[in-house]
Amino acid sequence: MSDPLASPEPPRMFGSAWTPDSWRARPAGQQPQWPNPDELGTALGDLRRQPPLVFAGEARQLTESLAAVAEGNAFLLQAGDCAESFDAFSADAIRDKLKVILQMAVVLTYGTGVPTVKIGRIAGQFAKPRSAPTETRDGTELPSFRGDMVNDFAFDRDARRPDPARLLRSYHQSAATLNLLRAFTKGGFADLNRVHQWNLEYVESSREGQRYEAVAQEIERALRFMAACGIDLAAEMQLHQVDFFTSHDALVLGYEEALTRRDSLTGKWYDCSAHLLWAGERTRQPDGAHVEFLSGVENPVGVKLGPDVSPQDVLTLCERLNPARQPGRLVLYSRMGADHVEEALPPLLRSVRMAGHPVVWACDPMHGNTFVHESGYKTRRFEDVMRELRGFFAACEAADVWAGGVHVELTGENVTECLGGTEEVLGDHLEQRYETMCDPRLNARQSLELAFQVAELVRR
Ligand code: PEP
Ligand code: CO
Repeated sequence: MSDPLASPEPPRMFGSAWTPDSWRARPAGQQPQWPNPDELGTALGDLRRQPPLVFAGEARQLTESLAAVAEGNAFLLQAGDCAESFDAFSADAIRDKLKVILQMAVVLTYGTGVPTVKIGRIAGQFAKPRSAPTETRDGTELPSFRGDMVNDFAFDRDARRPDPARLLRSYHQSAATLNLLRAFTKGGFADLNRVHQWNLEYVESSREGQRYEAVAQEIERALRFMAACGIDLAAEMQLHQVDFFTSHDALVLGYEEALTRRDSLTGKWYDCSAHLLWAGERTRQPDGAHVEFLSGVENPVGVKLGPDVSPQDVLTLCERLNPARQPGRLVLYSRMGADHVEEALPPLLRSVRMAGHPVVWACDPMHGNTFVHESGYKTRRFEDVMRELRGFFAACEAADVWAGGVHVELTGENVTECLGGTEEVLGDHLEQRYETMCDPRLNARQSLELAFQVAELVRR
């Protein structure tokens, strides 16, 4: 393991070479208008003195795991909140989110026979891109809510003012979240012997819950069988711990820059705010600041691709972000929408394959399928999510490309934010438990159902 306490270097002025602050010379979309530069400077200075949240060696380990995905020997499950929040922060909520992800991973691994690489949208997912810089209600215009890292959700002038103290608070909440995740995943909770205990109460009685129970029993039987054969299960660490990685949208670049450190072992730069960082559909301009920043950190990185992206743009992004063509370095997330994926994706798959870029192709079936329901709630239909996934798998199969993973927004809470699923959430139900601060998330039942259906798609 490299030296986790490597000290940050002071920022250098930009030249043509990459530095943690070279993004500052490029157009940066979606950045908050911080009202007070002194306060911002103080907050960023504080952040630069904080310990790294993740270590370079862990990021390298994720690159290796993703290389197996790029080669068609593993599957990526990336999941978590649309936006984490300061208010909804609790140990129970983190545990329940982890339970759902572990359950989905069991279903996928058991159903597909290949390892599942698990990455949370967690411990840093606090900033949101917005379609408009301001929001108007009843004639009052205020800055849009950009996530708890920037301002407050309440529609109020003071609340909506960007506050740099929130950068520090996001860091500290990420540290506490990561601490709990490390304890859960390495300290016994994620032991395969506890596979039954990951079922959440409100899921147990549902059809998916019972289907999961059946898989859990099979696994238990297989473990007993191996023990009976004389295999020392206690010594097999793989059965008692899981590798769980973190990720978020690298949106607020000042925050990411302040947590970027030089690894003392390799001399390379790592963004130590998370294992994997991605650029969103609105910040993926090949010449823009976000791609510049991501191009120079050694972490595995991702880019979201919507229906308007051209094959040329995608190739430029591959060249910018992975010129050395290192497998596992770059994940491309297709988020085309259920109606577009089958015509928009194949040309991209083919050009990337023909250019010989060893990327991971994953599907985000959420962000292209959002609409406003007549009740006024922003929602998604489970059936559209599945339709996009089926389209993604079909396109990959036709292009002879490994459909490498899914990226979804979910929660362990029994929310009613997305429509459909076998225990159907109807339009009338949306108001019952609509708790997201941003986009509608799958609840645990819908998430499990998705995992079962995806396992079938992979198997085919
Ligand atoms: C997101 O992942 O929350 C998001 C906003 O995605 P996209 O950039 O693809 O719209
Ligand atoms: Co979202």
